[in-house]
This record gives sequence, C-alpha cells and structure tokens, in this order.
Amino acid sequence: MKKAFLALTALALLTTAQARTWDTIKQSGTIKIATEGAFPPFNILEGKKLTGFEVELAEALARELGLKVEWTTQPFDNLLIGLNQDRYDFVIASHGITPQRAKAVDFARPHYCTGGAIVAKPGGPMTAADLAGKTVAVQVGTTYLENVRKVAGVGDIKTFPKDTDAQAALMSGRVDAWVGDKFTGIDLVKAQKGKLKQGALLFKESIAMAVKKGNNSLLKELNSALDKSLNNGTYAKISGQYFGQDIRCR
Ligand code: ARG
Repeated sequence: MKKAFLALTALALLTTAQARTWDTIKQSGTIKIATEGAFPPFNILEGKKLTGFEVELAEALARELGLKVEWTTQPFDNLLIGLNQDRYDFVIASHGITPQRAKAVDFARPHYCTGGAIVAKPGGPMTAADLAGKTVAVQVGTTYLENVRKVAGVGDIKTFPKDTDAQAALMSGRVDAWVGDKFTGIDLVKAQKGKLKQGALLFKESIAMAVKKGNNSLLKELNSALDKSLNNGTYAKISGQYFGQDIRCR
C-alpha cells in the first residue's frame, strides 16, 4: 500500500515536472544550458573549462538577459532527451534544424549556417560520387549520418559516439573518409598540415538552439537576445575570434 502510494507520487512528480518558463528562470537568476563539450571549435571542454564559439555566444546571450549560467555537458545523443526531461533550459550544440527534430523540440532562429563536408587523405574520396564503396566515419545521431546514408552506393558507415573519434579513425586509416561540419573540417585539415584534404559539401544546414517543445516564453527571450547580439557587434566579434569571419546565416 505504502509502496504503491510512493510509486504514484513519484510518477506524478515526473509527469508534472515542467520546463521552466521565462518568469521562473528570470526569478532564479540562473539559466541552465547544456552542450556536448567535444565539438571543436563550437563547444569544447578543455580540462575543466568549457569554451568554443557556441559557449561564448550562449554566455553573451545570458549576459544580455541578465542571467548567470549553469552548464551541463552530455553526450551529443542524449542532449535533446535530457531537454525533454527538464534537466536544463536549453541546448546549444550545433543541432541542425531538421523536420524530425522539430517534432521533438522547438528551435530558436539559427545562430549559424554551415554544411556537412567530406574530408579524406590526399587521393581519397572528395565527392559524393567518390564515396561509392568507401568506408565513412561519422558521429552518431547527427545529420552527417542521415545524409551519408543517402549517398548512392556508399560503402560501410562507421558511427562514433564522439566526432573527434570519427576524425581519429580517418587519421589512423581505419576509414576512407570522415563527414563532419565544414568549419570543423577546415580546422582539422589545417592542423594536419597536408595530411588531409577537404572535399565537397554534401548538404547544407542551419544550426539553432533548442528549447523544450512549447516553451515559447523562453524561446522569445533567446531569439531577441540573439537578434541583439547579431545587431550590436557581439556576435561578429565572437565569430571573428573563432573563424576569422562572420558565420551567421545570410
Ligand atoms: N550539425 C550536426 C547535426 O545537426 C552535428 C552536430 C554535432 N554536435 C555536437 N556537439 N557534436 O547533427
């Protein structure tokens, strides 16, 4: 009897748990943000310090909103699940806006535009057609996986929990190509000094922050803080630091 009652209360607590609205967040003075922390140069955990373009951008938005930040890092594949369990207020982790994800969460306006590009060793596959029969490494749960699957005749697709592990598989020759973010690829090719080449863009995508579905009050504040940063030079400054250019959608 007692047990059944406890189980029911726990269930009630679970099902009544709700996303924090803007008023609640504002009152608490702290916004809870989640990212992966393994996706350079967008979100990287360096020792104990979280940095990267998206981390700095999110902190600038929080400052604009008058809030302190509490960060959580999660494997990429868990981020949107945790959002729907109300473990944090929003996610910023380079999620491309896709129809499927848009069914599960609500996206802010995009904070950058990019695409998925092929990277291989010189002489390796550089175009979608070249990927026929080739082994490709991608991070699991990503738009890279979704789009590589669509490539006609593609060989084996190897998935990795972390994007950096998918890159390592290319470097060590376990795969013929890696498909990942265009800007990540530029940095990777530079760092590998002639050992890798960037090929064609397989697809384009717009990247946005996600809130729990229906959390309109928070979405509105995030969008207006992002708009401000795009207009007052804050965004351009952070983007310039990381990419030497402004990567906003145009
Ligand atoms: N842009 C890709 C996607 O939407 C990859 C994002 C990966 N992000 C990360 N933090 N590892 O799926």
